[in-house]
Amino acid sequence: MATFEQAPPGDQKAGEKIFKTKCAQCHTVEKGAATNKVCYIYGPNLNGLFGRQSGTTAGYSYSAGNKNMAVIWGENTLYDYLLNPKKYIPGTKMVFPGLKKPQERADLIAYLKEATA
Ligand code: HEC
Repeated sequence: MATFEQAPPGDQKAGEKIFKTKCAQCHTVEKGAATNKVCYIYGPNLNGLFGRQSGTTAGYSYSAGNKNMAVIWGENTLYDYLLNPKKYIPGTKMVFPGLKKPQERADLIAYLKEATA
């Protein structure tokens, strides 16, 4: 499987657009931002994502699958996860089919790295 190292360089601006159209209905990135409850199965706030263990955002009720995955989120793990979340984390309650294009995942990761820091 292709890895993050083999991915094209990410473009933050393009990644922001992808986040707004595909992730923002369920997730927020700003520190302390209220979890986005617009979505009926909303996700955890993603601030401080890089370097954090999966399933550990305080106050969010994760599925057992997400908690037990115990992976450290970073470029490599996000690159694989976002390709096919349900395959990467069996039993996840995140309803998202995945981003098949390496460029889209690289862009999104470039944006997330900046926006969640
Ligand atoms: C329909 C709502 C929804 C959409 C759209 C969505 N997510 Fe999620 N996301 C969730 C839910 C719900 C969880 C928690 C999953 C669980 O507990 O099984 C989650 C979990 C995550 C996690 C793991 C967080 C952790 O602390 O372990 C990451 C990273 C993530 N989402 C990123 C994204 C990105 C990036 C996108 C856009 C490409 C996206 N999500 C789109 C609902 C969504």
